[in-house]
Amino acid sequence: MDKLIINGGKRLEGTISVSGSKNATLPIAVAAAILADGASAIHNVPNLKDVDTLSAVLEVLGATTKFKNSTLYIEPSQRIAYEAPYDLVRKMRASIYVLGPLVARLGIAKVSFPGGCAIGPRPIDLHLKGLASLGAKIQIEGGYIIAHADRLVGAEMYLRGRHGSSVGATANVMMAATLAEGTTIIRGAACEPEVADLANFLNAMGADIEGIGTPTLKIHGVRQLRGVDYTVIADRIEAGTFMVAGAMTKGDVFVKNAVPQHLEAVSEKLVEVGVQLDWADDGVRVTTPRPLQAVDVPTATYPSFPTDMQAQMMGLLSITPGISIITESIFADRFMHASELNRMRADIRIEENRAVVRGVPKLSGAPVMASDLRAGAVLVLAGMAAAGETVVSRVYHIDRGYECIEKKLVGIGADIVRVND
Ligand code: EPZ
Repeated sequence: MDKLIINGGKRLEGTISVSGSKNATLPIAVAAAILADGASAIHNVPNLKDVDTLSAVLEVLGATTKFKNSTLYIEPSQRIAYEAPYDLVRKMRASIYVLGPLVARLGIAKVSFPGGCAIGPRPIDLHLKGLASLGAKIQIEGGYIIAHADRLVGAEMYLRGRHGSSVGATANVMMAATLAEGTTIIRGAACEPEVADLANFLNAMGADIEGIGTPTLKIHGVRQLRGVDYTVIADRIEAGTFMVAGAMTKGDVFVKNAVPQHLEAVSEKLVEVGVQLDWADDGVRVTTPRPLQAVDVPTATYPSFPTDMQAQMMGLLSITPGISIITESIFADRFMHASELNRMRADIRIEENRAVVRGVPKLSGAPVMASDLRAGAVLVLAGMAAAGETVVSRVYHIDRGYECIEKKLVGIGADIVRVND
């Protein structure tokens, strides 16, 4: 397994480019492989483990995929299989995205129940509730979800759970509804930019979706969808991660391709901490001309501060004078990175879904372990800001969501070497 060896204390300076969005690419690739009756070319796709894993799932279902120069070419099969096997689904929760499209296209789907992961239980009750509202008959057997429907029929539904809207459930049900009979209204839909990007892709394929980017989506069912050329949005979480990297190393970093509209809550919080952000039309310059100050960070669904930036923000606040309170309202167990940061002499106390972060002057390098994608990312950021050497293990977590993270960071002055253990 790979490790990253990081020698901290280097100021990051220069331009770092953001790749395409992982969380937009995954559902868009599923729609292209299952809902379309022709080939698609999806551009600005990041070269990530999760994209490889999803391509393997789509190939099992019969599609042909090819990834070249950030374009994912997808050719649907004339004979789509309806079963997504356990050994692939367990590798990546986003495989659940095939459920809605399969039952919409074939009238049947058999998808392994996705496992939980390091950030807590990952229920799919809202996915199943939404598909059942469209008339799918849902059974759970032997660890598999089996969904049947002669033809899905449009319906009105409310899709928020106790943690608010669901990105995955909104995507799954919206994709299924594009081929349903009649009109579907999803109230309490997720408004994340990745969901909007999927909706725009579906409309490019010939779907008829209104209310994109709002909590109420109206989907008028159509008979068929065609393959298209499409360019995925930039990854706002990768952009936010690099913005925090610039701030933590007190550098001068231009994050190219960052989209201001997708990062309003993150930008607002960074400015509140005292980070200077100068937006240009192709990205944002990050500097720290003045002392930083502690802030409180509650996570919530879009457009509020995203849970996927919570770990990165904890890294910055761990070296920001004062006491900051981070409240994680989306996932029950998304503080695994706190104990690893404390190994680096951070001073973070967890109280249920709150992290009390007392800023320290400097972190100190140490051997640490990534537990999930964003926890791994913050350990890299902390290693770059710390004094001494940090060795991050289980880097495969990071490779799931960051394209060549060490190459990009070395390009702006970081001292990081990947070793294969
Ligand atoms: C997506 O996960 C993202 N993954 C996550 O990014 C992101 O953290 C999350 O949305 C929230 O923004 C992908 O897009 C592949 P949810 P998803 O359904 O769809 C609860 C990363 O780092 N819930 O919006 O699984 C759920 O437990 C990953 O890139 C139900 O209760 O998230 C959570 O508390 C990590 N029932 C909340 O809703 C359901 O049926 C939000 O989950 C579904 C979800």
